[in-house]
Amino acid sequence: MTTPTPALTQKPEWKELEACRERLQHSTMKALFADDPARAQRYFVEGAGLSLDFSRNRLTDEVLSGLMALARSCKLEDRRAALLRGDKVNVTENRPALHTALRNPGTDTIMIDGVDVIAEVGATLARMETFVQEVLSHSRCGYTGKVFTDVVSIGIGGSFLGPKLVTEALQPFRAPGLRCHYVANIDGTEICETLATVDPETTLFLVQSKSFGTRETLENSKVARQWFIDRSGNKQAVANHFIAVTANPAAAKEFGIDPANVFPMWDWVGGRYSLWSAIGLPIALTVGMENFRALLAGAHAMDKHFRDTPLEKNLPVIMAMLGIWYSNIWGAETHAILPYDHYLRSLPAHLQQLDMESSGKRVNQHGEALEYNSGPVIWGGVGANGQHAYHQLIHQGTRLIPADFIIPLQTHNPVATHHADLFANCLAQSRAMMTGKTLEEARAELAASGMNEADIAKLAPHKVIPGNQPSNMLMMKKVTPETVGALIALYEHRTFVQGVIWDIDSFDQWGVELGKKLGENILPKLLGPAKSDDASDSTTDNLVALFRSANGL
Ligand code: F6P
Repeated sequence: MTTPTPALTQKPEWKELEACRERLQHSTMKALFADDPARAQRYFVEGAGLSLDFSRNRLTDEVLSGLMALARSCKLEDRRAALLRGDKVNVTENRPALHTALRNPGTDTIMIDGVDVIAEVGATLARMETFVQEVLSHSRCGYTGKVFTDVVSIGIGGSFLGPKLVTEALQPFRAPGLRCHYVANIDGTEICETLATVDPETTLFLVQSKSFGTRETLENSKVARQWFIDRSGNKQAVANHFIAVTANPAAAKEFGIDPANVFPMWDWVGGRYSLWSAIGLPIALTVGMENFRALLAGAHAMDKHFRDTPLEKNLPVIMAMLGIWYSNIWGAETHAILPYDHYLRSLPAHLQQLDMESSGKRVNQHGEALEYNSGPVIWGGVGANGQHAYHQLIHQGTRLIPADFIIPLQTHNPVATHHADLFANCLAQSRAMMTGKTLEEARAELAASGMNEADIAKLAPHKVIPGNQPSNMLMMKKVTPETVGALIALYEHRTFVQGVIWDIDSFDQWGVELGKKLGENILPKLLGPAKSDDASDSTTDNLVALFRSANGL
């Protein structure tokens, strides 16, 4: 009879971490640095072209080994091997989660239901390459023979956020002459504003949808197709101007997409993990296939780092376990992503879906309610702008807010002393979060300014910054296809590791269904004949009535 695995919070490793927190409760990072200045060197790891300084954490060697002991007690290494070899780790949908296969250079074989998925990936990449070459070499043109000048990618969630992040991030690598636009929202403004800027003769539409059943994407695609037909007067030309990327080719055909223009996706790729697949066509069209392959290579380098590196030196594992330390042992409710690079400005939005749709779960893999918190709220924004927006709350609010600073050592755009200035801001924010400012320091500062004692007594408490806010500093030499690939893969694996600790299914997303269903029920109330009815509520009914009267319905 095997002894049942103790629940996470009953594990001795968990209790040891709680004891570690008790022992650290009244210490500060400032004191830890004073006792051990060498920690800056010790808590620094590199891998796949990225460098992680994690010294500004509420961390000692005892805590770090405790976190790794917890990871091992959750069989992290076995679960990692299962993920990478294609086990059905998405237990509720009975599927593998093989986004790593999408960036495998073809050196491995992974059989899923008798099919070598690596070979399938390679074949699709070859098809993408041919298509991209045809468009960029102008051998594939619009229905009037004009070259394509614009790509409109219609998709939402993982069919939007990842491609958008990467096309922005790789702007310095873009191929001349092709503008990329993204339409995601069912707010008609987005599709209307986009169509107003493009010409049907020179525009290529990508319908990006794994399910080919997402209402926002289908409704936007219908509007785009009708606009194209109305403006071109050429229904046959739809075949040459509309491409689909989907795991549901039958639905794409039904929609009117020429089967020859459908690129496959697979069930074993989650939407939020799919930018490496043909969903990445907007990226490949924007920066060229060579740079897209470099992006894949960067992610593969991080996959190998994650697979082969001991936990204690493993970037995704260290970042994941520090997240567990703050979320579950210290009770942090959020986690901030602070990229100090304009090209990475959409990273927080992508990581919100990646992490919150993966870790926003309330039951474990066996359907049992969790007795501990799972994923935190992921938020953030580009630095240095955030310093003039929400850093005040980080510095003087009442909450523990761990942050990841992300910054390249070199810029693509050297101008004046801007990059040094940006870097100084980034380092200063991380340091201010750690050291803070004591009441004595605030008083001395005000006294030095000549303020009288009475005013000092009044103002000084308002200038105290408690500090001890933890942060990681993640750096790359420069923002390139390789480092962007490694960065995103790092966070994919960080999310996976946390899911192992929480014992959740990180790859399903059943929670989004209810809202979709309710939307389908409400829409006819807004548009259809007024009728009282069934399953509704007074608030919905009142607001439906408001909408109808405002729109003459
Ligand atoms: O938000 C739910 C979701 O299924 C995401 O997981 C996905 O990325 C998005 O909707 C779009 O789905 P699809 O690519 O199937 O249109």
